[in-house]
Parts: sequence; structure tokens; C-alpha cells
Amino acid sequence: MVHYSKGVALLLTATGAFASPWLETSKHATHRTREVSPGFKVHAYQPVSKYETFGEGIDHPLSKREIPASPEEAALSFLGSHLGINASSLSYRTGYTGEVSKHVYIRQKINGIEVTNAVANVALNKNDKVIAYGSSFVNPKNVASSTPKLSKGDAIAKAETAFSAKYNDWKVSLEYFTKDSGDAALTYLVQVQNEDHWWEVSVDAANGEIVNAVDFVAAASYNVVRYDKQDIREGFTVETNPADTIASPGGWHVAGSNSYTTTRGNNVVAYKTSSTGTSSQTSSGLNFLYTHNVNVSPSTSPNLDVARVNGFYTGNMIHDLTYRYGFTERAYNFQVDNRGNGGAGNDPVNLSIQDASGTNSANFATPGDGQSGTCRMYIWTYSTPNRDGSLSNDIIAHEFTHGVTNRMTGGGTGRCLQTTEAGGMGEGWSDFMAFWTEQKSAAQVDFILAPYPYNNPKGYRTVPYSTNKSVDPHMYSTLKTVSEVHRIGEVWVTMLIEAYYALVAKYGFSNNKFDPSGSAGNIVMFHLFIDALAIQPCNPTFLSARDAIIQADVNRYGGVNKCLLWNAFAKRGLGSSASGHNDSSAVPSGC
Ligand SMILES: *[C@@H]1O[C@H](CO)[C@@H](O)[C@H](O)[C@H]1NC(C)=O
Ligand SMILES: *[C@@H]1O[C@H](CO)[C@@H](O)[C@H](O)[C@H]1NC(C)=O
Ligand SMILES: *[C@@H]1O[C@H](CO)[C@@H](O)[C@H](O)[C@H]1NC(C)=O
Ligand SMILES: *[C@@H]1O[C@H](CO)[C@@H](O)[C@H](O)[C@H]1NC(C)=O
Ligand SMILES: [Zn+2]
Repeated sequence: MVHYSKGVALLLTATGAFASPWLETSKHATHRTREVSPGFKVHAYQPVSKYETFGEGIDHPLSKREIPASPEEAALSFLGSHLGINASSLSYRTGYTGEVSKHVYIRQKINGIEVTNAVANVALNKNDKVIAYGSSFVNPKNVASSTPKLSKGDAIAKAETAFSAKYNDWKVSLEYFTKDSGDAALTYLVQVQNEDHWWEVSVDAANGEIVNAVDFVAAASYNVVRYDKQDIREGFTVETNPADTIASPGGWHVAGSNSYTTTRGNNVVAYKTSSTGTSSQTSSGLNFLYTHNVNVSPSTSPNLDVARVNGFYTGNMIHDLTYRYGFTERAYNFQVDNRGNGGAGNDPVNLSIQDASGTNSANFATPGDGQSGTCRMYIWTYSTPNRDGSLSNDIIAHEFTHGVTNRMTGGGTGRCLQTTEAGGMGEGWSDFMAFWTEQKSAAQVDFILAPYPYNNPKGYRTVPYSTNKSVDPHMYSTLKTVSEVHRIGEVWVTMLIEAYYALVAKYGFSNNKFDPSGSAGNIVMFHLFIDALAIQPCNPTFLSARDAIIQADVNRYGGVNKCLLWNAFAKRGLGSSASGHNDSSAVPSGC
């Protein structure tokens, strides 16, 4: 568990020269220099920390109290007495109880105002004895007035200009910041964002000087099969900072007050056997750069790590992508920390790589919101050496989409795709996700699922998915002849692909899949896909799921695609007079 750049204050200077009493090397513990843009450097500064540990633990002032002290009370009283600090200078920030210890995080206050970079933490053991504390509390030489001279608007403008980034509307607060000169400046904390960074900037409230900034984005890189490639036959690339700043602010390795350097984070925990069996970064700075060896089995090093990293990456990409289109905290998604956005937290996807309980498949269990989903990925035995389903993004996308559809249908209970027909559509949506993520242009190419792990160019379904009926003949009435959910799903995904290509023919294609404001046909289809899930009834039928998609188009696009959608469904027998698995090619009058 390691804390990354989040929380490290960056002290800004206009030139490379840095006037300070420290030697270059002795500054490593308190300073860090980074280049924001050519010639524009930021220097990190955090006051020197005191740190002490106490073995089996020591008492705090409230240890003997009859009513046991809470961890918060215990930590505040300990810190106050141990450092000789007046309680009015201490501000409880956050805390939690872990498996074997309790953690309390505290900040210093001056004139009743919190100090950005004067922080402390206290850890207690199971017996409520203090086992460690750290503190960067300060005793400033000069403290600026607690009344700002600059307006908030001026502070925002200063931050936007200095970082070439836009203010993100997050509440601007006033805090002190202690500079390495020993002075405490009163500052406005302003958040600004651009494509690569998300800065929290401290603007001096007396003169508009930028005195420090925090970068919430920790650089992370992964050697993976990019999410829009089907499997390793399309090759590995190193993806740097793939986490979406809206869906996963702070990146993929921070979960609440915990930060990790492994394949664990807010949305996904990718592991082998037990949730502690994760893959670690290969070098500092969250670099997960394992190289696949095609000549050895999936379980031989480094291939297990490669699989865990690819599973972690692709699962997180599906989280971020679906988040952008509406599978958010309040729509019952999977996250440890919901950041106050509603829904139940503490439910990341537990992603079991090379799960021992099976072969030649994968599955996803979706309990209700607030309990982790569990995805089991298996090794496939159709080739020598065996192949790993976790290197086939279509399978990961398929499985994670079970979590999306099961949570979004019926309000987060995980109970609303249980009938055979609804469960069949669940398989269809999942195959559609694999299809959708992998499209790279408007061109129609028949889609074949899982050819790599199955070691068969014909793939794992009975037909290639196609709008060409001589390639993919599925009709609504096919449901009269099939009862297995994946076979039912084939019919549903065929219909979704008809609607998809009709929309792409009309509105074109965009490769910018993470921008839900786009007007291209594939983007429109993805909105309708996600929107309809929340509109449709518990245990939908083909008829009600079709109606929900057409209704979603009314809600979002004023129904402009009504006839296009009806015609797409009618082509496959799900027209306006369809019922009881009898085909209809009819469309409403006016279409
Ligand atoms: C603590 O600070 C408050 C406010 O500054 C003051 O009123 C009080 O006397 C102080 N207490 C001690 C023990 O120094
Ligand atoms: C998921 O893993 C966590 C540990 O990381 C464990 O506490 C939890 O029980 C698991 N959830 C399920 C549903 O298996
Ligand atoms: C549909 O598929 C058949 C069989 O592969 C092929 O002969 C035909 O040209 C295809 N039609 C179109 C419009 O692509
Ligand atoms: C389906 O078609 C069959 C044969 O035409 C007919 O007997 C049956 O009533 C139809 N079912 C429904 C629900 O329309
Ligand atoms: Zn499935």
C-alpha cells in the first residue's frame, strides 16, 4: 500500500533555479521537480515528516477512560499530547478500520483554517494502542492574514492560465500552505483539468502567486492488448494513463484512502486464487510492463502477470467506458469508493485470472449493489500451449457486460435477467459489447467471437454476426427452435448489430468512443444500449427490450431514429406485429 502523487504538494517556480537551503540530494525526501511544459517546472514540497513506531503499542491519554475512546478521539488526544499541540490546531480528516489496524488522518489548522501540506496520521492496533504516527505539522515563521485580498474569480483565472487547463467547477476552498521558506500563505485551492492532467492549484489569496499544485493523475502504464483489439493476435502496446479522468478520477489504483501498486484499485481487483494474489508494478511509478512469452503455458512466468495486467486493464476500460454512458455510482456500478455520488460502494469486481474451477469458458456473478461481482476467467485447452481467456478482450468485455446489464436492469438487484429469454438477451448484450468496442471504422466486417482461445477461426458461436442473412440467418422466430441462453443471445445481438449498422450508415462512425457527446452512429447506438437497460422491465422479453430501445431514442434524441430502429428490428422478424416468437416484418404506419 503506497501513496502516489495524490497529496504531494508541488511548489511552483518560474525557472529551473530553486532557491532553498537544501542540498540537491537531501531534497529528495521533501521536494520533487517535474516539467509541466517546456521550460515550465514545478517543484514538489512537503515539510519534513516526523515518524515514530511503537512495536506492541503505547497508551494514549484516553486509554484508561471508562468509556472506550473512538479511534478519532484516541488519535487526536495522542497527537495533541505527544507533539504538545493545542486541540484547536487539529482537524480530523478521515479514517478507517483495517483488518489488523485502525488509521486516522489529521490536518493542522491555523486561525481555524486547514493547512494543505501539514498532515498527520496515527495508527492504532486491535488493542487500541498507538503503534505509529507521522506528522509534517509546522510552526510557521510568518502567517498571512486569514482575509483574502484576491477574489475567487481572479484565483480561478490565474490557475487556468498558468496550467493551460479549465476550472472544473469543484468547490474552491481557502487553506493555508506552508512554503519551504517557513511562511504560511493563505491560498485558494482551485481544480483545473486538461487532457493529461488534473491539477489542484494553490493560488496565494494575497497576491495571486501560484504557490503550489497537486497533480491527481499518477502516471501509469500497462503492456496490454488495447481494449479495441480482439486478442493478442493484434499485438501488445504500452498504454500510458488509460484511466478516464471522469470515470476514474485519481486513476485505477486508488480506492478511498488506500493506494496500491498492484492490479488492485477502485473498480477491479485482478488476482490469481486469492484476492491478495495480484501483480505488482515492474518498476516505480505504476508501470506494469510484463512481456508475454507465446512458447510457454499461461501459468508460467511471466504469462500469469501478463494475464492479470490485461484483465485489470480491460476490466477497468469497460468500467470507464460504460460509466461515461451512464453506468455510474447511482446506476449501481462496481466500485470500492463511490466518492459521494450515490449507490452502494465496497463492491469492486473481483477478477479471478486462470481460475481453477473450470476451463474453456468464463463467467460473471452479479449480486446486488454493494456486493462485489466475481468474474472467473479460465484457461482454454484447444491448443498447445494452452491459451488464456484473459488475453482475449472479447471475453473480458463479454463478462464485464453481464455485470452492467444485471445491475442496470431493474435497479441494481442483480435479479432481473433470470428468465430464459432475458438471460439469453444478457448473452446478446455481452457479445454486442465485444463487437462494439472492437469496431475501428464504419466498414461492415462479420464479427466472430473468441477465435483465439477457441483456436478456431469460426469462433465460439454458431454463426458470424452479420447483417447479411446468408451469413447470419437469425430471426425472431429462431427462438422457437433454441432454448440455450447463448443461442438465444445470438438472435438478440444480430438485431442489435442491424440497428448499429443502420445508425452508422446514417450518422457515420467515431473512434472517439470515450466521448458520449459525439453524434456518430456507433455513439448513438451505445447510448441507446445503456439507456434502455434502465428503462426496460425486470426480466424483459425481446418485445419489451425492443420497445425500451425505441423509447430510449425518444428520451435522448426526440425519437428521430424511430423508423430506422423499427426497420432494423423488422428485418429480423421483430416488427410491430411480432409476438409469441412469430415473425413480423411490419413497421408502424409512417415508417
Ligand atoms: C487553545 O487554543 C485556544 C484558542 O486559541 C485557546 O483559547 C486556549 O486557551 C488554548 N488552550 C491551551 C491549553 O493552550
Ligand atoms: C472480493 O474480494 C474481497 C477481498 O478483496 C473479499 O473480501 C470479498 O468477499 C470478495 N467478494 C466476493 C463476492 O467474493
Ligand atoms: C452475403 O453473403 C453471401 C455468402 O457469403 C455472399 O455471397 C454475398 O455476396 C453477401 N452479400 C452481400 C450484400 O455482401
Ligand atoms: C404464431 O403463429 C402460429 C401459426 O401461424 C399461430 O397458430 C399462433 O397463434 C401464433 N401465436 C401468436 C402469439 O401470435
Ligand atoms: Zn455470457
